[in-house]
Amino acid sequence: MASQLAAAAVDIDALLASMTLEEKAGQLSLYASVDANPSANPAHLPPDVSRQLDDIRAGRVTGLFNGTSLAAKRRAQEAAVNESRLGIPLLFAADVIHGLRTVFPVPLAEAASWEPALAERTARAAAVEAAREGVRWTFAPMVDIARDARWGRGVEGAGEDVLLASRFAAARVRGFQGSDLAAADAVLATPKHFVAYGAAEGGLDYNTVDVSDLTVRETYLPPFKAAFDAGALAVMTAFNEIAGTPMTAHARWLQDLLRGEWRFPGVVISDYHSDAELVAHGFAVDERQAAKLAFLAGTDISMESGLYARYLPSLVASGEVPPARLDEAVRRVLALKAKIGLFEAPMRGLESPPGPPPVEHMALAREAARRSIVLLKNERGLLPLPKSGRRLALIGPFAGGPADLHGPWTLFPGGTPPVSLEAGLRGALIDPDLLTVTRGADAEAAIPGGIDAAVRAAREADVVLLAIGESEAMSGEARSRAEIILPPAQQALAEAVAATGKPMVVLLRNGRALALAGAVQDAPALLVTWFLGSQTGHAVADVLFGDAAPSGRLPVSFPQSPGQVPLYYAHKPTGRPAPREGEAPGFYNTRYLGTRHAALYPFGHGLGYGHVRYGPVDVGEGRLPWNGKLRIRALLTNDGPREQDEVAQLYVRDRSASVTRPVRELKDFRRIRIAAGATVEAEFELSRGDLGFIGSDLQPTVEPGRFDVWIAPSAERGSASSFELLPPAQR
Ligand code: GLC
Repeated sequence: MASQLAAAAVDIDALLASMTLEEKAGQLSLYASVDANPSANPAHLPPDVSRQLDDIRAGRVTGLFNGTSLAAKRRAQEAAVNESRLGIPLLFAADVIHGLRTVFPVPLAEAASWEPALAERTARAAAVEAAREGVRWTFAPMVDIARDARWGRGVEGAGEDVLLASRFAAARVRGFQGSDLAAADAVLATPKHFVAYGAAEGGLDYNTVDVSDLTVRETYLPPFKAAFDAGALAVMTAFNEIAGTPMTAHARWLQDLLRGEWRFPGVVISDYHSDAELVAHGFAVDERQAAKLAFLAGTDISMESGLYARYLPSLVASGEVPPARLDEAVRRVLALKAKIGLFEAPMRGLESPPGPPPVEHMALAREAARRSIVLLKNERGLLPLPKSGRRLALIGPFAGGPADLHGPWTLFPGGTPPVSLEAGLRGALIDPDLLTVTRGADAEAAIPGGIDAAVRAAREADVVLLAIGESEAMSGEARSRAEIILPPAQQALAEAVAATGKPMVVLLRNGRALALAGAVQDAPALLVTWFLGSQTGHAVADVLFGDAAPSGRLPVSFPQSPGQVPLYYAHKPTGRPAPREGEAPGFYNTRYLGTRHAALYPFGHGLGYGHVRYGPVDVGEGRLPWNGKLRIRALLTNDGPREQDEVAQLYVRDRSASVTRPVRELKDFRRIRIAAGATVEAEFELSRGDLGFIGSDLQPTVEPGRFDVWIAPSAERGSASSFELLPPAQR
């Protein structure tokens, strides 16, 4: 039977008709490979290769994920294809989040490039490397909107804004999947975590989510829709509940919306053990009921818990799960396997260990890292630095060494060690001996004598480069932080070094927005460098010394105070709006005592080595016909010393509608290269489709009326013009 499958195109109906209940349940059961990287998930099943092979032979396994050994994958696939009754191949998956062997910047860093095409290229490169090792399915892109920086998983996504996150979601799906899912280097994408995982109360991972349907539809669903429209055929449920129903068993969103409204044809997979966790949620009395509730709500595949293999056969036999529902789910899985050519070529990518990754991937990693760096501040043109003639003191826990360069979710790094800041800087300097390196403090603890050594190094230098921020252990899943500040040991180091009076450039390593304070906030130059991956040191050096100009823009708002979270620019005005920049503070309005309500560094902010001024926004007659378009333009002038890649951002505000609207919403953006001294026109076009929102009836709607509009360098800059969306039939 197995050989027939391998030869003929798959007759799914015939295959389905020949399957036992156990085999059908097995096609809905995915497990971590016993050789999986143990750091990614809480351990559940003791690693037992022979038991896993027995389960595969018995048809109880549809696929394995995060395996690290090619030989083990090959052995498992041979067991599935040649030693099981039906020979249905396994699907190998992995968390290929930002690269495989070549590690690209973390997704939030790439989002700071405001260049979805760049993310598409890095996802494509990651897919090429994954497919060469038999991985045909990635649990990415993570498309959760994240607006509370206490949440550790914002690092995996594209930030706080719906439009930006949707553009990156689609780009990453296109990158992973390529143009042909049956191609040898195609990798199935899995937008995750469905849905509103980033809305966890308090930014506390896995915590309760209680947002309205309107907010789910307006803020959290659009990036998933963008991913599906880009061709994604799998989706992963989120750990959280929404308003009392855990997402893995949420029939209204999984059935009514996903299957009903959106006609999603793909496969819904649980998150790791999230079906079994319905018991911990107090939503299922036991694992059997958890399996029933998750399956009937629309979760097709169970990840890791084994609940479907254990309980679905008896649930169908007892009539609690209709056989047709089981067949529907199995058919979707078999169709997906057939679509990627798995039946025809089950051993593809498993034959022999691939050589080193394509060399061009490292160049891409360096390019992506450069474009992810955000220059927040550059007083008196301190940057770029010369490559000679200056004594540089590189100080801080992230100055040297291989740690904390890749960022979270780097499960399969290649043989090439990542380039540290020290290595990158030394490689760029004409006289590397002009660089001294002093740790000064650990990421979260002081080093005896560390600050004294750092102060001495600073005193002997002309410029200090302070490498501080978050370690990998402070960012990612299950790494929410109650206060988004620098650890005290690092703040103390910064204060002591700054007290020497030497010019200081802060090189921030971070997986989230941080509330910068004291000497860090006051430093004359501040670069946000996130976790940049394999080419960290070279990319930072390229920007520091001006071989590349910084062009990143913040995808998340940096607050003035840690207590401001959740902080995001597209907030509602309230009935007592916060005073705007320059306005008298007033009293009875939306603000915290002692803190300006604005962000310290707003969404969209970032500097280059030029200086770009924005002219007034030209809206022509300022009338947008109901079925027409309106051109919005502004002149941008670079009166700085160097060319600049500017990101012109188009924001609107609906001044009055039947549902309250945010004070600003990003509607488009353009990366524009502007030579020194040049003036360039930024032009956008709006139609009523860009001005829609979710109405109180939960339906998409658009209402005529007046809109403010900006073409600006960030969500808090620029002067508004306005236009009128005319009602239907009025010219
Ligand atoms: C984790 C994450 C999910 C990941 C999965 C498999 O708990 O929530 O993003 O893909 O388990 O590692």
